[in-house]
Amino acid sequence: MRIILLGAPGTGKGTHAQFIIKKYKIPQISTGEMFRKAIKLDSKIGRQVKKVLSIGQLVPDELVIQLVNHRLSENDCSRGFLLDGFPRTIAQALSIREMGIKIDKILEFVVPDQLIINRITGRRIHEASGRIYHSIFNPPKITGQDDITGEPLIIREDDKIETIHHRLIEYRHLTAPLIHYYQQEACLGNTTYHKINGARTISEINNELIKLCE
Ligand code: AP5
Repeated sequence: MRIILLGAPGTGKGTHAQFIIKKYKIPQISTGEMFRKAIKLDSKIGRQVKKVLSIGQLVPDELVIQLVNHRLSENDCSRGFLLDGFPRTIAQALSIREMGIKIDKILEFVVPDQLIINRITGRRIHEASGRIYHSIFNPPKITGQDDITGEPLIIREDDKIETIHHRLIEYRHLTAPLIHYYQQEACLGNTTYHKINGARTISEINNELIKLCE
């Protein structure tokens, strides 16, 4: 099963990805997570993208495409994968097609902007694993600590209010055109397209995903 999660920042892609990858036993490929790890390791790529992420811009297509092409050629992707945060531009979508990969499902998460802001400003993450919490909507068992390791949770560098606005603008300009692109692909029978109302509770959305994943 090959799945793409589409949607603006903070619409729940990373949260619901956890459920889908367990169901299908496929790897989650989160480009945002790959970049955050590279920044933490202070690798060459990390140094290249650090500033871009902190101001909420998109990393240049060439760099992301190269990274994802390499990742998709790894063995664990042979039975499928879930792409979370890629593609984000038409050029990135075309790169998947050029690799000859057929995507089975596109899941688009839709959430109103004000709710997106509430969700992102309350987000807390466990840096090592990428596990996602929310201080109110999805709190850890102990405030400020990861449920599994007990390590401290952090606030993402790009979750400041001014950066969130910039990320939403980037989404509307560069990523939203993918909605039309993939809806057309679905009309041509090349994939299936599902719009998910992401403004519901995590369990309500997971219930819908259970049906979609049957
Ligand atoms: P990335 O990490 O991909 O960030 P994003 O797309 O902006 O998405 P987010 O991680 O912010 O949100 P999400 O939809 O996963 O929501 P989440 O589940 O966390 O990218 C970061 C940066 O990397 C980009 O800005 C760019 O610079 C760069 N980058 C990455 N990919 C790139 C690419 N392909 N090309 C170029 N540049 C790229 O949920 C949010 C919060 O809400 C959490 O606190 C969660 O607990 C809570 N929540 C989730 N669902 C619910 C619910 N149903 N009810 C209540 N609370 C909920």
